Amino acid sequence: MTIPTVLTKRFGLRYPVIAAPLGRGATPQFLAALAREGSMGFVALMPMPETEVRQMLSGYIAATGGGGRFGVNLTLINDQMRRLDAALEAGCRIVSLWQGDPTRYARRAKDAGAVVFWTVSGPEDAARAADIGVDFIVAQGREAGGHLVGKAPLMSLLPAVVDAAGGVPTIGAGGIADGRGLAAALTLGACGVWMGTRFVASVESGNHPGYKQRIAKAGFADLVETTLFDGGWPESPHRVIRNSTVARWEEAGCPAPGARPGEGEQIGTFPEGTSMLRYNAATPWDSMDGDWEAGPHYAGTSAALVRRVEPIADLLSRIEADAEAALKRVLPLT
Ligand SMILES: Cc1cc2nc3c(=O)[nH]c(=O)nc-3n(C[C@H](O)[C@H](O)[C@H](O)COP(=O)(O)O)c2cc1C
Repeated sequence: MTIPTVLTKRFGLRYPVIAAPLGRGATPQFLAALAREGSMGFVALMPMPETEVRQMLSGYIAATGGGGRFGVNLTLINDQMRRLDAALEAGCRIVSLWQGDPTRYARRAKDAGAVVFWTVSGPEDAARAADIGVDFIVAQGREAGGHLVGKAPLMSLLPAVVDAAGGVPTIGAGGIADGRGLAAALTLGACGVWMGTRFVASVESGNHPGYKQRIAKAGFADLVETTLFDGGWPESPHRVIRNSTVARWEEAGCPAPGARPGEGEQIGTFPEGTSMLRYNAATPWDSMDGDWEAGPHYAGTSAALVRRVEPIADLLSRIEADAEAALKRVLPLT
């Protein structure tokens, strides 16, 4: 049995499971592996210099087989219209929006024939989604890894969003790492799930191997919600695994920005040649030049369910089989 939903049908997917943007870990090879295995992923455009978006995306299009095989993600904390235009000109036709007002970005994307995803904070946003032209809502529970917009845990947020969405299909995100989570999201009214942490800890992701291992070892007590890694992305809560930067700051009594230990210290260099400072928001990636351990290890409570770094094909088939088994346990599906 497969689990067909409006999400799988719209994009021709084998699984109702898609991968969140993972900073610089969402490489062309990672998104190509997802597309090949019957899923789909997103690449965040925020780290790409505006003038290079189009050329960088041509590599993703070549690897995945087209601009409808993966999505681009825009973080609307500042003007992202040039990046959106460059992505549309490159041929991308799946656009994900979050953090900020999506209205004019959604309109531009729809005019170009793109499918629009919007990560909402709760039912108030969801009630506006149809008018804005959103095709898929992502309901991000507060247990999520990375930056957080969700106002409540997924168990209550997701059905509240589904109820308010006016029929716009909704995807569950945050704290989901296995088939039981997929089954739960489906029964709460979702058409699929959007996972971040689980896919960081996949063989194919371009995230740093040390960071992947941290996820595989993390328990609930290792996770913190903070605004600490604010370089380039200020005053925005995020969930991370406690590392040396978090520990030093806690030992110093959790001082405010400007008085934190090691503030201004260079911990690495970006591919563009600029300095990466401690407290920067950049996710550690595999070929990075610098101290991967000092950067933010974004992870959701889902990390406690991840025990191994695994190939995407194995992950997806097991998630689906376990979701079916979970659904069969509670309802005889014959
Ligand atoms: C490493 C990492 C980077 C992320 N970067 C983004 C991003 O750039 N844009 C975005 O919309 N969400 C981003 N997220 C959040 C995810 O979209 C998603 O809401 C979250 O991963 C779900 O929780 P989970 O990690 O427990 O699966 C990121 C998550 C992680 C783990």
